[in-house]
Order: sequence, then structure tokens, then C-alpha cells
Amino acid sequence: MKNFVFYNPTQIVFGKDQTKNIGNYLRGKKCLLLYGKESIKRNGIYDRIIESLNKNNVGFVEKYGVKSNPVLGFVHEAIELARKENVDAILAVGGGSVIDTGKAVACGFYYQGDVWDYFTDKARIGNALPLYVVLTLAATASEMNNGAVITNEKTRQKFNIKADSLSPKVSILDPVNTYTVPGNYTAYGCVDAMVHLLEGYFTQEDPSTSIQDGFVETLVKTLMESTRTIMKKADDYNARADFMWAATLALNGITTAGIGNHGFPNHMMGHSLSALYDIAHGASLSIVFPAWLKHHAKEKSKKISRFGTAIFGIEDPQKTIEALDQFFNSIGTSTRLSQVNIPATDIDKIAGNAVMLAQKWRLDQYTKDIITAILQLGA
Ligand code: NZQ
Ligand code: ZN
Repeated sequence: MKNFVFYNPTQIVFGKDQTKNIGNYLRGKKCLLLYGKESIKRNGIYDRIIESLNKNNVGFVEKYGVKSNPVLGFVHEAIELARKENVDAILAVGGGSVIDTGKAVACGFYYQGDVWDYFTDKARIGNALPLYVVLTLAATASEMNNGAVITNEKTRQKFNIKADSLSPKVSILDPVNTYTVPGNYTAYGCVDAMVHLLEGYFTQEDPSTSIQDGFVETLVKTLMESTRTIMKKADDYNARADFMWAATLALNGITTAGIGNHGFPNHMMGHSLSALYDIAHGASLSIVFPAWLKHHAKEKSKKISRFGTAIFGIEDPQKTIEALDQFFNSIGTSTRLSQVNIPATDIDKIAGNAVMLAQKWRLDQYTKDIITAILQLGA
């Protein structure tokens, strides 16, 4: 096991009927209430939040309309509003897009320059407003980590930031809040959380980490099983609860502690698909990941065999990749660029975009040619 420092300051409040407690945590504050387009108004979460804020005399100003694959222009507007209204906290109610917008606003609030400087490593994140979360879609683990991803719609760059000051103070995880998540986003969430686990599993420096490998395999199985159940019964509490906690654990630092150096090459390529075509994050990963595994199948054959045996009862690496591909298709996500109408002739453009992130993340082996070769396997 490699040396590690594990630090995760987010307080998790998990379970049924917890949403109504959000006001307790925000007492004495004036917050910027951030949310997406309409889901929380349709499913009643909005009303529960407002009731709790009012009951606890929490001041708030609203900013809504965060889009999936959130954009910098919206972040700028929200920072301006937060300053004008002199808020002292942010309450993000939604999935990864809303939480990530909250994180960008939280640090941008104190920065005199353009918050995008943080994304291009021109400036270092310092202070941030405290962030509170009510999670409505399980997928990204943004509710319990210190990262955020925003798209600069002008430069077509989907880039990330990371800083301890961005970790939410409190995140409320009520599985009931996810009953209304539609099938497609449940599938994208499943893929996203699985790939968070598998990026580390397949790229880790230390080849034998039994705690971490076993943890990943259990979480992957849980995600797959709960997704199958949710597809049949959207309001199955235990399945939604398993899914929600597994997705949070998949990228809160716990499964990568001790594995040593590891990378996120699939996210590097997936972010370009979203930056260029605005496709959902999970949908980008279900295309890229099987192609990436195929590309590395020889050098990673032992680990793929271990994975296949644990998850599918299959030892053969090629058959394991096929089984994974089939699982993604069976829950309704695409595994080929052609399935989402992206022609193979666009691969050069996608690789050109992805290489910017490869450089930012110091994934030196991923040159434009290598990325092109991988994407061709997913054409
Ligand atoms: O806008 P509304 O109407 O609320 O609809 C949303 C949105 O259209 C809907 N939704 C959310 N909760 C719902 C619901 N619909 C019905 N019932 C509910 N309870 O779902 C749609 C997608 O929401 P979004 O927040 O975009 O999804 P997700 O949580 O998958 O977030 C994706 C974003 O997070 C980034 C992705 O790149 C992408 O931009 N990621 C963030 C990470 C992080 N901060 O650690 C890591 C990830 O790898 C990822 O990159
Ligand atoms: Zn992801």
C-alpha cells in the first residue's frame, strides 16, 4: 500500500425525511439558493426546502436554470448576484451540475479576476463561501468531494478545479429525492460512478491493494444491481439508497487512498465529447470506457481478468469488455460514437480538444495520436 493522506470534511446526513432539516444547518445565514431547471418544482423538493428555510429564518436569494454540463456564463451571473445580495453561504439543490456551479461561485465570490483563471491554473483557489447541498441525483460524488467541472462555452473547454475549501460543509442525501430521476439519468449516473471507481482500479500504481480492489468490486456490483432494480421500480427505497451511497463513495477519496498514482484518462476524453456536443457526462463515459479498455487490454489483461471474474464470472479479458459493453447497452446508454450520431470523421477534432485536458492533467502518454486510436475503437 502506498502512503496517503485522507481528508474529507463533508458532513453527510443520510436518509428518509432529512431534507426538511436543511434550515437547521443554515441558521443565521443568508444563502444563494441554486438549482436546475424544473425538476425540484415538479417533485416537491423545492417546497420542502423553502418551508425549512422559512421555519429557521434563513435568508435566501434564488438563482435557477443551471443546465446539465454547466457553463461559465451562468457562474459569472451567479457570482454577481451573490455579491450584490451579500450572501454568506451557498445552498445547491440538485445533481453534479448544480453542486459544481455552487463550488465555482463559492470561490469566484472572493476573487477579483475571472473565476476561469482557477480552471486554467492561472490563479490558486483561496477562500470560498461555505457550501451546503441537498442532493437530488446520485452520480458524481460532488456532494462529498472538493472538485468541480465547468464548461467555458466560448473556448469549448470543459475543465475542472479542486481545493479543500470547495468541499461541502453538509450534504443531505435523501434517497427519496431521487425517485423521480428518469431512467436515462439513472443509467448515466451508474456509468459515471462505475467509471470513477474503475479509472483508479485500472490505472493504479500499486498493483496489489486488496482493500481498495475489493471495495471497488463491491461498489461496482452494488451499482449494477441497484440500477437493474431501479429500472423496474423507480421508487425502490433500498435500491435508491444503495445506489446513492455507492455513487458518493465512488469519488470521495476513499477507494483511491493507498493506490498511489492514478489517472482519469476516460474523463479526459469524455469531457471533450460533452464540451463539443453537450452530451451527458455518463453517456460520454459509456462510449469512451470500453474503447479505452480495449486499447489497453494486453497490458492490463491480469486486472481485467480479475475484474471479469469478480463482476461477470468471466475470466477472459475480451469477453469481459464485451460483457461490460452489453451491460451499458442493456441499461440504455450508448457505447459507440455512431449511436449518438457523432461521425468518425469528427475524431480528429475531439482528440484535438481532449489533448488540452491531457496536458493540464499531465497524462503524458495520451498524445493526440493515442487518443485518436482509442476513439476509433469507439466509433
Ligand atoms: O435541471 P433539472 O430540471 O433539475 O433536471 C436535472 C438535469 O436535467 C435532472 N434531475 C436532477 N435531479 C432530478 C432530476 N430529474 C428528476 N428528478 C430529480 N430528483 O437531471 C438532469 C441532470 O442533472 P446533472 O446535475 O447535470 O447530472 P449529474 O449529477 O450527472 O452531473 C453532471 C455534471 O457533473 C460533472 C459532469 O461533468 C457534469 O458536468 N461531474 C462532476 C464531478 C465532481 N464535481 O466531482 C465528477 C464527475 O466526474 C463529473 O465530471
Ligand atoms: Zn465522472
